[in-house]
Formats: sequence, C-alpha cells, structure tokens
Amino acid sequence: MWIKSFRLRRRPIAIALACILVLVAVTTFAFLNDERKSVISVAQLQKALSKAAPESMQPAPDLEKSIVERIKRGQHTFRYDTFGDEAFWGDTLQLHKAIAGQKLGGVGSGVSPNQALAVGLKVDVEALPKNLVKDLKAGKVNLNDPASTLVLLENDAVVGLTGFFDKKGNLSSIGIQCALCHSTVDDSFAPGIGRRLDGWANRDLNVGAIISLAPNLQVIADRLGVDVATVKKVLAAWGPGKYDALLLMDGKGFRPDGKSGAVLLPPIFSLSGINLHTWTGWGSLVHWNAYVANTQMRGKGTFFDPRLNDPGKYPIAVKTGDWNIRNKPDLVTPKLADLHVYQLALTAPTAPKNSYDEKAAQRGEKLFNEKAMCARCHVPPVFSEPGWNMHTPEEIGIDAFQADRSPDNRYRTSPLQGLWTHQKGGFFHDGRFADLKEVVEHYNTVFKLNLTEREKNDLVEFLKSI
Ligand code: HEC
Ligand code: HEC
Repeated sequence: MWIKSFRLRRRPIAIALACILVLVAVTTFAFLNDERKSVISVAQLQKALSKAAPESMQPAPDLEKSIVERIKRGQHTFRYDTFGDEAFWGDTLQLHKAIAGQKLGGVGSGVSPNQALAVGLKVDVEALPKNLVKDLKAGKVNLNDPASTLVLLENDAVVGLTGFFDKKGNLSSIGIQCALCHSTVDDSFAPGIGRRLDGWANRDLNVGAIISLAPNLQVIADRLGVDVATVKKVLAAWGPGKYDALLLMDGKGFRPDGKSGAVLLPPIFSLSGINLHTWTGWGSLVHWNAYVANTQMRGKGTFFDPRLNDPGKYPIAVKTGDWNIRNKPDLVTPKLADLHVYQLALTAPTAPKNSYDEKAAQRGEKLFNEKAMCARCHVPPVFSEPGWNMHTPEEIGIDAFQADRSPDNRYRTSPLQGLWTHQKGGFFHDGRFADLKEVVEHYNTVFKLNLTEREKNDLVEFLKSI
C-alpha cells in the first residue's frame, strides 16, 4: 500500500522534472541568443557613440544657463527666504514688537537704525531707493528713530531680516534668513551700510542680544526646561560674532570652565571640495542647511537625523522631537538643492595686496607645507583633508567640550581660505586664540615644531594671504 502510493506519486514528479528541464533548456537558449544579440548591439552603440563623442563632450549651452539660474535661485533663498520662520521669530517670540516699539504698535522703546547697527545688523545700501540714499547722505534720515528702522525693513534692506507689514503699514511679524549670520557688507556707504558680501562671517552680529530683545522668551525657556532669566543669562554670554546651534539639542549653555558654549560664526565660502562641515563635522552642506533651516531658524520643513535621538547626549532634541521634523507644506526641502549650488559657488575673496608681506608669505608657504607640517591636515588647495577631515581634541591639543557635543566627538579641519576676512573674534571654534600668531604659537608648542620667531611670522603672513 505504502509502496504503491509511492510509485503512483513518483510519476507526476518525473513529469514535472522533465518539464523543468525542457523549460531550462529553452530559456537558456533564448538567453544566450539574447545575449549574443545584445553584445552586438552594445558594440554598435559604442561605435556610434565614439563618433559622436567630441560633440557630446561639449557642455550643452543650456547647462551653463541652468547653473547660473540655480545659483541665482540659491542666492535668493540665502538672502531673502525665511522658510516660514516668521511664525517663530515674529508670531511666537514677538521680536517685531520690540523692534517697532510702543509708539508704532509694538512694545518698549523700539530699535533705531543706530541701535540695530550697534548689535551688528547690516544695511544693504543697494536695496534702498535713490531718494532715501540721497536723504541718508544729506543726514536727513533720523537714525535714532525706530520709524527709520521700519523704512529699512520695508525696503528689504536689513541684511538677514524680513519685516512683514499689515494693510495699515504696521510691522506685523519678522523672519530671519541665512544671510543674517553669513553675510556682511563692505561699509562702502558708512560703517555697517554698504553692498552685501555673502559668505563672510558677520563677526559684529550679537545674536544673543538680538534674541534677548524678544518680549516672549518663555517658549525657549520651556524647551530648555529653565526660566526666562536663565535663558537671558545664556544669551548674554554669547557676545558678538557667536551663536550656539546646539543649545536647543543638549541644553548646555555653559562649559565646565564657566564660559559660554557658543561658537564663532564661520565664513561659508570656499566650501566646495570639503567633506564634512561645521566646526565639529556634523555632516554635508545639505545636512547642515536642513538642520539650521528647521531646528534653528525654525523654518517649516523636514529634517531627519536619528543621531540626535540620543537621550544621554541630546535630551532636549529627544524631548521636543527636533531630530525628526515634518511640516506640511514643506517650505525648506524644495529649496535645498539650489541653496547647495549657491554655497558651492561662493569662493573666498583674495587678500588685498597690501594686507600681507608677499616675500614673507612665500617663505611661510614653504614652512606650511614642510617644516611646520600644516599641510598634513590642511591639504592645499582645499586646506582640509580630502577624505574624512576629522581629528580628536588631543590631536590638535585642545579640550573636548565642543567636540563631545557632536556625533563623532571630533573637530573638523577648518578650511583656511579668506582667514583675513574674519580676524575679529579670534580663531578656532570658540575664538580661543586672539590672532593668527597665537594659533601658530599653539601649534609650535603642541607639535614641538621649533619654529624661530621669523618663521612664525612668515607662517602668519602666509595664513593672511590664503
Ligand atoms: C543665527 C546665526 C546663523 C544662521 C541664521 C545660519 N547660520 Fe550657518 N552657522 C552658524 C554657526 C554658529 C555655525 C557653526 C556651527 C557649529 O559648528 O556648531 C554655522 C555653520 C554653517 C555652515 C558650516 C560652515 C563650515 O565651515 O563648514 C554652513 C555651510 C552654514 N552654516 C550655512 C547656513 C545656511 C545655508 C543657513 C540658512 C539656511 C544658515 N547657515 C543660517 C550660524 C548661523
Ligand atoms: C592634525 C591636523 C592638523 C594640523 C597638523 C594642523 N591643523 Fe590647523 N586645524 C585643525 C583642526 C581640526 C582645526 C579646527 C579647530 C577648532 O575647531 O577649534 C584647525 C584650525 C586651524 C585654524 C583656525 C581656523 C579658523 O577659522 O579659526 C588655523 C588658522 C589653523 N588651523 C592653522 C594651522 C597651521 C598654521 C598649522 C601648522 C602649524 C596647522 N593648522 C596644523 C587641524 C590641524
């Protein structure tokens, strides 16, 4: 019984096997045939392509045009886009009310143009109508009146700030842009008033003092789980040229030594060719742009970085959900690509001829590449490492505080182009070295370079010339 049924069952198996064999044979033949066909057609294609190559390698005329258009769009985003962040700076913090002052529908005494300039805000002279420039020249504009600040805002002339006005002409909200921290002006009209210089770090800007003006800081206090007085203490400790982009993630306002946890506003030119960005190498340009636009400017977009979902390291980010932000509609993501192209296009300005000693700089360059071994990490011409451009605090002889606030616990090798444009505020992430001479002295000690006084000066002259 058992054997019979086995035999009976075997027959269908044999038939199935035979069918499979036939199928395999047929498909193998078809496949081989097909491959032979495709080999021929690839060869033909290659032949055809090689004939067309010289022509197809010419850049298509519309490629250049499209790059220029993308740069322009990126520039517009960088200069004027608030990503909807007025919902935070205006509607929530009520910063616009402090700027307008009580007389113009706000609160307090208001912010005059002179007060705005004193906290490092810059005025784009090219945005002003000719009449206004004339009046400014003639001293006919009262720079001590907050009403004049509103006129500047109406003309989109305060770098990095956009005023929103209601139908009656009252300032009803305010938003911020990338240009607030990463642009300055050339002072061509007056100190603080001139043509825009995008990518330059605004080391005059006192971000902490500006935020502190806001009538409603409760929302920041709530996020941090502290009182408003504590928030103000933290903001007051930043000082000009500094900002803390991690405060709302880890809640660390101060270092163990009692100094502020804020870092210097970096320049953002000559960043193409550089792998990781920010002082501590958080990620690519696009990573950081999305981070800042969503979590710092509080624009309304999308941001995802699960490294921040770490309650030990980033308790505030976990509590607020800032590691995974989703907004509909998304006002940030559609702008990231062109914003990226714009930043890649920004290059450091060449150092003015008379700003350094040329002969000494030439000797300094040799030292940079050889005896002082700076080029080991600052690899010319990008001046950071091609590859993973990160170092432990010990490797460069400094403390770990800021590095430990970042995912990789390291410092990123700073690109060095245009150092001459940001000598205010010092060097290294927290400005711990007041000038380039101090930087060189530091390396001389840490790396036991045995540089002579003259060699140190030569190195400084080279750094000023990059
Ligand atoms: C309130 C001031 C402020 C605003 C606004 C701001 N940034 Fe920054 N930015 C900083 C600071 C401070 C750092 C350094 C952060 C760090 O290393 O912790 C930085 C770092 C950067 C870097 C890294 C530079 C490098 O050397 O790798 C880029 C790129 C950048 N910002 C682009 C932008 C863009 C684009 C925007 C607008 C979407 C923007 N930032 C808005 C303050 C600001
Ligand atoms: C081991 C790699 C390494 C070597 C070697 C090195 N650097 Fe650096 N450099 C760094 C890192 C990392 C930073 C960022 C420090 C920070 O974020 O505080 C930096 C920062 C700097 C800065 C500050 C830039 C700024 O914007 O504030 C200067 C200037 C500089 N280095 C010059 C030099 C010179 C000159 C030498 C040679 C004497 C040198 N470096 C050697 C890694 C290196």
